[in-house]
Amino acid sequence: MEKLVVAGNNRLSGEVVISGAKNAVVAIIPAAIIAQGVCIIENLPCIEDVTCFITTLRNLGIKCELLNENTLKIDSTTIESSIAINDDVKKIRASYYLMGALIGRFKKVEVALPGGCNFGSRPIDQHIRGFKALGVDVIVEDNIVKLDGTNLKGANVYLDMVSVGATINIMLAAVLAKGVTVIENAAKEPHVVDTANFLNMLGAKITGAGTDVIRITGVEKLHGGEYTIIPDQIEAGTYMIAAAISGGDVCVKNIIPKHMDSLVAKLEEMGCDIEQGDDYIRVKSDKDLKATNVKTMVYPGFPTDLQPQMTTLLAVANGKSTLTENVWENRFQYVEQLKKLGAKIELDGRVANIEGIEEFEGGEVKATDLRAGAAMILAGLRSKSEIIISNVKYIDRGYEKVEHKLRAIGADIRRIKD
Ligand code: EPU
Repeated sequence: MEKLVVAGNNRLSGEVVISGAKNAVVAIIPAAIIAQGVCIIENLPCIEDVTCFITTLRNLGIKCELLNENTLKIDSTTIESSIAINDDVKKIRASYYLMGALIGRFKKVEVALPGGCNFGSRPIDQHIRGFKALGVDVIVEDNIVKLDGTNLKGANVYLDMVSVGATINIMLAAVLAKGVTVIENAAKEPHVVDTANFLNMLGAKITGAGTDVIRITGVEKLHGGEYTIIPDQIEAGTYMIAAAISGGDVCVKNIIPKHMDSLVAKLEEMGCDIEQGDDYIRVKSDKDLKATNVKTMVYPGFPTDLQPQMTTLLAVANGKSTLTENVWENRFQYVEQLKKLGAKIELDGRVANIEGIEEFEGGEVKATDLRAGAAMILAGLRSKSEIIISNVKYIDRGYEKVEHKLRAIGADIRRIKD
């Protein structure tokens, strides 16, 4: 088992280049299955979730070749099976996209339910409701979702709640469905738009992605093509918070600054200096941070995937802050870990009441999930002594070369084998 050791009290400075977006690539790789041609995907993040998806596609008979570390060639013309039920499928949450991706081409599809929820219940009822609206028969048996899309056709789908996964999954299924599908109350996250742009590049007819009404006119088939994944909004936000917490001066490059508006507003409120260019944001901070209140919301609100990182920052701001989690029911498991490091945080349902301390104590903590793991690293940038983080596998699922990128901007962080 590997651990990360962060030495404590590091001031970060320099430039960090952001990788392709995890939550876009985990939709775009399965989306490539719909294409009856070769897809080249560039700006591929080198993360565990991608490795797992490549294995899953290969198990279906799809040719996947890494042309270099960040470019993937997918040839789904060789696909042999529409049954995805092995262990790799269960490891990645986003394997639910295999349902939408396979249904248009193969009609009879079986996909294992993704396991290992790391922050409470993560239902997929809206995905299933959407498929049923499109005429698909769905049965869930022994943790396997069995779909029959013989009567797949366009339809109107109104989502009961804004769901990124359901929006993308229904969009994937609708691409080859006869007629028009309209998704109302759709998610507007950048990765929804990126997936729609990818599909349109392959010949799909999708309009309205990025608004709450998406319209998909079914087409006969999709061809191959080349596509570059957008930069990762959450990785970018994590490094911006790293600059702020360490009293540093960091230029976060290769990003779409517009995606960072909600975080920029909060960092400015806390007293950070922010400079923005076409594809970068520079964050300067003097460690003297003001308390503030944050509520997570769907895009363009403050992202839940930056919630643990933001709580960690507020934990060392002057005064009392609150952080309200509005997206997930139970995304505060990591708070216990921060408290072990001296943080003063009290939970009251969906609200974390935070009283700022000067800096964290050293100690041993674990990454309870991906973003919680990032939060532990951030705490280590402002701790009196060493912080040792276990369960690093979670962090590797979503952050490309995290310790290399951090070391290059001055962090004292190393990976050890236990
Ligand atoms: N929900 C339902 N039923 C559904 C679907 C969702 O009740 O059928 C609820 C969820 O329980 C949650 C809310 O709706 O309370 C939003 O869930 P959503 O479907 O939007 O989440 P997701 O698609 O499963 C993606 C990201 C998450 C991110 C959320 C919210 C991917 C692969 N994952 O999950 O990312 O937190 O959207 O933005 O895109 C992460 O990167 O760390 C991560 C967890």
